[in-house]
Amino acid sequence: MALRDIVKDKDPILRKKCREVTDFGAKLSKLLDDMHETMIAADGVGLAGPQVGLLLRVAVVETDDGYFELVNPVRTAESGTQKGYEGCLSVPGRSECVIRPMNVTVRYLDRHGKQRTGEFSGLTARAMCHEMDHLDGILFYDKAVREDE
Ligand code: CO
Repeated sequence: MALRDIVKDKDPILRKKCREVTDFGAKLSKLLDDMHETMIAADGVGLAGPQVGLLLRVAVVETDDGYFELVNPVRTAESGTQKGYEGCLSVPGRSECVIRPMNVTVRYLDRHGKQRTGEFSGLTARAMCHEMDHLDGILFYDKAVREDE
């Protein structure tokens, strides 16, 4: 495994829409392993493809609920809302209040291309929504609200 450089805000790659993954070989596994290691080293709970310079629909999320690798993820259902502060490894030093669903259902592929569906809530749901936004060039502060909003 190897650490990858994290792309920082204002780099135009963070604003691009990512393409779907179609190759499920060793290269994808290495990418996911590197992303996981990079996320841990940076003390984050999630990291998405564009943040390591790749316009691919991949993300990793790790919370108390477990470690998840999302390839071509799609949010298929959501319920409830949660309002709270979040940050981003690409936007160091900034946190904003963002409203996210409390519960989400996500359909995705694993590193071998096998389809999976998961139901997530709380911080894990927040992190997955944040990472899936990255795949469409959306950053968390685009959705910032005032704390009393
Ligand atoms: Co982020």
